[in-house]
Amino acid sequence: MPESPIRKLVPYAEDAKKNNIEVLHLNIGQPDIQPPKEVLDKIKNFNIKTVEYTHSAGIENYRKGIAKYYNNIGITVSYEDIIVTTGGSEALIFCLNSILDPEDEIIIPEPFYANYNGFTTLSSAKVKPIISKINNGFKLPSTKEFEKLINKKTKAILICNPNNPTGYLYSKEEIKQLAKIVLKYDIFLIVDEVYREFVYDNKTHYSVLKEKNILNNAIVIDSISKRYSMCGARIGCITSRNKELIQTCLKFAQARLSPPTFGQLAGIEALKADEEYFNKVINEYEERRNLLVSELNKIEGVYCPNPSGAFYCIAELPIDDSNNFCKWILESFSRNKKTVMMAPASGFYTKEDTGKKQVRIAYVLNKDKIHESTRIIREALKKYNS
Ligand SMILES: Cc1ncc(COP(=O)(O)O)c(C=O)c1O
Repeated sequence: MPESPIRKLVPYAEDAKKNNIEVLHLNIGQPDIQPPKEVLDKIKNFNIKTVEYTHSAGIENYRKGIAKYYNNIGITVSYEDIIVTTGGSEALIFCLNSILDPEDEIIIPEPFYANYNGFTTLSSAKVKPIISKINNGFKLPSTKEFEKLINKKTKAILICNPNNPTGYLYSKEEIKQLAKIVLKYDIFLIVDEVYREFVYDNKTHYSVLKEKNILNNAIVIDSISKRYSMCGARIGCITSRNKELIQTCLKFAQARLSPPTFGQLAGIEALKADEEYFNKVINEYEERRNLLVSELNKIEGVYCPNPSGAFYCIAELPIDDSNNFCKWILESFSRNKKTVMMAPASGFYTKEDTGKKQVRIAYVLNKDKIHESTRIIREALKKYNS
């Protein structure tokens, strides 16, 4: 199993904290935002006498609630197209194990969410990366580039929309481009839409489940971790109109018995969150992004595209190796007893030497902390390069 680029610097952060340095965590997608009030009220007032397993596919009422949520955003699915999972992570594990045999291949634009590599390894299959580039904001590579990689072992294309780690929002045209490819080669199109709501600049998200031509090919990975700031509830789902896929995933779901009961009960309440809740949260993330991207781009030698979604960005820094820099900043640099933890971006690429100057930054801290972080990065770069 590959190690996580997001967590591998944890011991250095722990050492910094032991030395009374405050570490601003820009390395991990752990939002500081409160979940909807309905969820907090439910958690305070759980009134149950036994804590039972639920149906392996999830509480039926909850699945019906999720189907209604999809219907409300223009996606026609029934609750029978949904299996509730222990986070989007388990949805990915079920999905990849269901469609991949050993040695099969899956094409993923890189940089990509590093755990895709681990989950594919778990299926004894291989990731075939296709490079997307920082100089065009990480847009989708051309059909020709995808076709170069497709062979008999190719079972799927996997994208994350909006993207972690780049923040890139794939357009409707790009989803249609992928739909054409998967239809032509009869492979799956897996879209990880766990950041679906987090879209800025008045743009809209186009879900792959809206593509009527590929009902049997399209699979969505979903989660409440980011949508309602409920990472610890450990609830996600896999959604597809492909009955055979859902039946196969259900076997995995039955083998692990049940998704978390408490998390599902809280998830039912989360579905009651109103538009106002989302407007506030999305507005907050958009302001944080604006601040972060503009402050980063003011630093000499730094380039950061302005991403339209999720809550991450990739920045290129004037350094030799972001692994060294991210370690050094934790070990040897602080400003007013504060330092930052970032994720070296090379871990989001399959080849060690790609993305060496890049870091991924998650804007999951309040604006004061984000501003402070950019000041730390600015001064640290000066010292590092002197
Ligand atoms: C792109 C992406 N997919 C899936 C997940 C899995 O999240 P969870 O298992 O909490 O739903 C994450 C978590 O950070 C993510 O960033």
